[in-house]
Amino acid sequence: TVHSLLALVLGYLLGSIPFGLVLSKAAGLGDVRKIGSGNIGATNVLRTGNKPIALATLLLDGGKGALAYLIALKVAPDVAPLAGAAAFLGHLYPVYLGFKGGKGVATFGGLLCALAWPVGLLWGSTWLIVLALFRMSSLAGLMSAALSPFYAWIFADSPTVILTGALAIAIFIKHEANIRRILAGTEPRIGKKDKTDT
Ligand code: G3P
Repeated sequence: TVHSLLALVLGYLLGSIPFGLVLSKAAGLGDVRKIGSGNIGATNVLRTGNKPIALATLLLDGGKGALAYLIALKVAPDVAPLAGAAAFLGHLYPVYLGFKGGKGVATFGGLLCALAWPVGLLWGSTWLIVLALFRMSSLAGLMSAALSPFYAWIFADSPTVILTGALAIAIFIKHEANIRRILAGTEPRIGKKDKTDT
């Protein structure tokens, strides 16, 4: 229906908003695509040294995933999870940035919180624990994404398991360079000065 299409397009456009780039530019921190990993996510915004802007990026990039789902729930409930997925894809491939977007961790987590809060809670706990243990944002994003389909299997329905699995795969694909660095032992840790490319 028209409503379904509208919800999906809105989700995608919402997800396309690159909050990391917008906020860091607005705060006078420059273009985050030119520093650190070159990513537009909260982790790379943190590399500017501005913690509040990094936190705001994390929350807004997460919030847009949740919002896309919640809006669709009102307009076209049948496609609500897909509208959330559209926001996630918008973050990965944003129309406003020539389809060169982020890696999806925050948007994935925000969507999970809205979609099935116990899954979101477990996702967030996993992310925090891995981050605290290893101080690598990428590893935390990857581990929490990998475990989420199992969390969904326990606490949600099968469409959610499939959706979670599909988005987790996309997160792994987007972290190819990070995975290589993790295996090589060169992935920078949060709170330490280090330099990386891509
Ligand atoms: O969500 C992105 C994060 O997992 C890694 O970011 O900048 O270290 O590649 P970055």
